[in-house]
Amino acid sequence: MRIGDKHYESIWLDRDDEKAVKIIDQRKLPFDFSIVTLRTVEDVYSAIRNMTLRGAPLIGAAAAYGMYLACLEITTYTKTREHLRNAAKYLLSSRPTAVNLEWAIDKQMSVLAAYCRRDRLVEASEKTAEDIAEQEKQNCKKIGKHGLGIIEEISRQKNGEPVNILTHCNAGWLACIDYGTATAPVYLAHDKGIKVHVWVDETRPRNQGARLTAWELGNHGVPHTLVADNTGGYLMQKGDVDIVITGSDRTSANGDVANKSGTYLKALAAKDNNIPFYVALPTSTIDMNISNGVKEIPVEARDGKEVTHVEGLLNNKDIVSIRVCPEKTGAINYAFDITPAYLVSGLITEKGICRAEEKEIEKLFSEKKN
Ligand code: MRU
Repeated sequence: MRIGDKHYESIWLDRDDEKAVKIIDQRKLPFDFSIVTLRTVEDVYSAIRNMTLRGAPLIGAAAAYGMYLACLEITTYTKTREHLRNAAKYLLSSRPTAVNLEWAIDKQMSVLAAYCRRDRLVEASEKTAEDIAEQEKQNCKKIGKHGLGIIEEISRQKNGEPVNILTHCNAGWLACIDYGTATAPVYLAHDKGIKVHVWVDETRPRNQGARLTAWELGNHGVPHTLVADNTGGYLMQKGDVDIVITGSDRTSANGDVANKSGTYLKALAAKDNNIPFYVALPTSTIDMNISNGVKEIPVEARDGKEVTHVEGLLNNKDIVSIRVCPEKTGAINYAFDITPAYLVSGLITEKGICRAEEKEIEKLFSEKKN
């Protein structure tokens, strides 16, 4: 993705310093564009946990680079297998919901099982991390192509009037190395000259919509309007939403979708107003080991301070956090919710579009079944 005159991805390895994994600090956007260097497994763990980086595919790629950094940490005194197992376990504990984390770590561990020497482990883990990042990027591009067809069809039906797309949270390039999942079809449509307009849910409590999606779309020149999280239903009743597209952090074998808290309510409103509700995701986000997402997907509960406080820019200078409720009021902060499959019109994946149904998912992702 272009920022100014430079192309960026949301994670990369510094070619001049093999110990430096670079990421964009998502906690500071859109106010400040700064790059953070991760040099240790601990750095990667903290960056995922404190959301310096976030978004399911990016979390997976970062964990894969984390395993590469774990290999670099090996010395002649290291008990290699124990060290790698510990690193994997530690990284896995950083955040619970996005299954991409487990998927990427498992991938690294199965590759690394074949090697003993440090140089081989380093080489293999670097290649695996680079492959995962590249693959996720290509997957997003394919998701974009498949989703583009849906937007084109709506545009035809509207005789070229702008297609109004509502999205929640940030499932853009920042979350996905490049292109994004939910945003990829939007970028492709816009670049093709199809008129699109995006309703951006602010996405409390951390405001990933207001801060990240709005910033991304603005940089790309895509028309968009920020709305308070609870406005979507009214927009749908007014006929101002043609389609909803969100991302996912984990989608179970039966098609239930875990995504940022508030996604479920948008899906309910979309159903009530007969508006298509699509979820865009790569294979790495499908969890074939969970047969009932609503009951079984682990949902992260984060610090209540994200709800009792809100963060923003003060005097065009400092990023500050201010309280928005009485001092003694407590808050519960579930970061995700689960949208049941029956509310999902379809899953837009790199392999094509399928219904959110067990049989269809199994057919498309048969290689993921254990
Ligand atoms: O808590 P976050 O910001 O990591 O939650 C992310 C989301 O819910 C995204 O919409 C999701 O990861 C899809 S990313 C392509």
